Amino acid sequence: MFLQIKNLTKKYNKVEAVKNISFSAKEKEIICILGPSGCGKTTILQSIGGFIKIDEGEIILDGVNIEKLEPEEREIATVFQSYGLFPHKTVIENIIYGLKFRKYRKRDAIAEGKKMLEILNLVGYENKRVTELSGGEQQRVALGRALIVKPKLLLLDEPFSNLDTNLRASMRKELLRIRDHFNITMLFVTHDQEDAFSIADRIIVMNKGRIEQIDTARNIYFNPRTEFVLNFIGSANVDRGYFVRPEAIRVSPEGKEATVIDKTFKGAFIEYILDYKGNKYKMLRLNNEEEFEIGSKIKIEMEMREI
Ligand SMILES: Nc1ncnc2c1ncn2[C@@H]1O[C@H](COP(=O)(O)OP(=O)(O)OP(=O)(O)O)[C@@H](O)[C@H]1O
Ligand SMILES: [Mg+2]
Repeated sequence: MFLQIKNLTKKYNKVEAVKNISFSAKEKEIICILGPSGCGKTTILQSIGGFIKIDEGEIILDGVNIEKLEPEEREIATVFQSYGLFPHKTVIENIIYGLKFRKYRKRDAIAEGKKMLEILNLVGYENKRVTELSGGEQQRVALGRALIVKPKLLLLDEPFSNLDTNLRASMRKELLRIRDHFNITMLFVTHDQEDAFSIADRIIVMNKGRIEQIDTARNIYFNPRTEFVLNFIGSANVDRGYFVRPEAIRVSPEGKEATVIDKTFKGAFIEYILDYKGNKYKMLRLNNEEEFEIGSKIKIEMEMREI
């Protein structure tokens, strides 16, 4: 495996922020780390990047133990949530910053920087100050600055959190393109499940400093291994160890009776709250399907699955 994390533990003042975490990544793999606030996502990235000292565990990148190396010795680049750009420098100065420490001549560094501008669709922006850029443009500069040193591993901590929905979608495509262009392995922390579903080869779901499940998006969604994963990813109706996703409830003349007690227009979907055998169930239907009014009785069927 290209990246191996073995039994990583990090304590802050005796409180374990992450406990005995192990996982690995193949070369070129994109792994997304999902989990609620405070579950230890940033702690994992900072441990791998070398910005904090770990208490226990091993970090192996491309066959080499790196847990004792300084951050700049690790061949890893990080894009922080706040981008961390230099506000007084221009776009190109920001992008080529990391080459200073790699004994590049200025002229060669600028040539490399210009190539990066092309890859990131930032041609024409080189002499602007980063404070004059939009959030999405700053995001791309931050990526460029991380990638120019050709790291083996790219760590991204909530990199799209300041972007609107459309820009987010195009940055996801951009990231996949960058992965293919540079053959780079990525660890991507996000709050956004759609980010994870659309770009991750595998997803790690975390809770309270521990890993709940590592799996493909489909397996996480269809075969959640714990009740935490089930409830954290998407939404679900749960009854005594069995669950059904809201979109898997079907309306059918052969079904059993339920009463519509609420409904909400969600754009592409309509979300219904049903009273079914005395319990509340959430049902999702596409907006072009037959619509039901609050108070009406309908017939539904579903297959509950074991968690
Ligand atoms: N420098 C620190 N000193 C003490 N405790 C810390 C420090 N940094 C993080 N923690 C604690 O460690 C735990 C994990 O924090 P971490 O920043 O890794 O969470 P996170 O999953 O990245 O959360 P978020 O989604 O809010 O960014 C939290 O309980 C946090 O309060
Ligand atoms: Mg964090």
